[in-house]
Amino acid sequence: MMRIFIIACLLNILNISTAWPSDDLYPLDKMTPDLLNKASLQRGVKYFMQYCFGCHSMRFQRYQRVAKDLGIPDDLMISHLIFNEDKISDFMFNGMTPAMGKEWFGAAPPDLTLVARVRGTDWLYTYLRTFYYDPVTPWKSNNLVFPNAGMPDIFEPIKGRMIKVCQDPADQNTCSLQPDPKYPGIMLPDMFDQMIYDLVNFMAYSAEPIKLERQRIGVYVILFLCLLLILACLLKREYWKDIH
Ligand code: HEC
Repeated sequence: MMRIFIIACLLNILNISTAWPSDDLYPLDKMTPDLLNKASLQRGVKYFMQYCFGCHSMRFQRYQRVAKDLGIPDDLMISHLIFNEDKISDFMFNGMTPAMGKEWFGAAPPDLTLVARVRGTDWLYTYLRTFYYDPVTPWKSNNLVFPNAGMPDIFEPIKGRMIKVCQDPADQNTCSLQPDPKYPGIMLPDMFDQMIYDLVNFMAYSAEPIKLERQRIGVYVILFLCLLLILACLLKREYWKDIH
């Protein structure tokens, strides 16, 4: 037990993801969060409030904490990012209960505060970029990473409509998405990828707001232990000097 704990601590200090490996077969694109990039995190929370908050809450996160951590002045947070009656000291809860979500969408939109820890950032980054047009589902959309997801393709007007093209229809790994020229979006692919990067970066921050702080402290702890080791060695040498 202790050994697992120490390994987990080391992985955390070294910034190696401890998310569970996913059982998805679809290959995931790599996404490395950059929590020092405040501009990206600020864009991320903006996109989140604009495009996701209607369905997904972040119930364990307060608006005020986000504003403080991301360097957003309180008045800007209130006027630009809080769209309902919530106060800045409230938790980011959109009022939708799981039962309401299930009734409206067939599957309740889960809370996203901790989703980056559960799914991992690679999964989120790939999932949000692999929605495509599928006329047979209720929302006329589907997803390569999460087949038959209950979430509609809310990005279609932004990235344009995507069509799934497979070399071998039985093997999801041979599939890729091609834009449908009849339904273009308003963003170029690079811009859209950046948008999703910012969103996932924000979700990574939200899953562990004190990660940055912990990494900083972790470095000091390691330095302190090294120093202690040197002192202990010197002390030992001093004690044993006369005995040898
Ligand atoms: C119209 C409602 C709606 C909107 C808007 C929406 N989602 Fe969803 N989302 C859902 C539903 C419903 C599910 C549940 C899918 C399922 O379980 O089949 C879901 C599932 C997810 C999941 C999978 C979670 C998991 O672990 O299973 C993620 C991640 C997610 N949404 C992220 C987002 C993000 C980020 C945005 C904003 C860019 C967003 N969603 C906007 C309805 C929505």
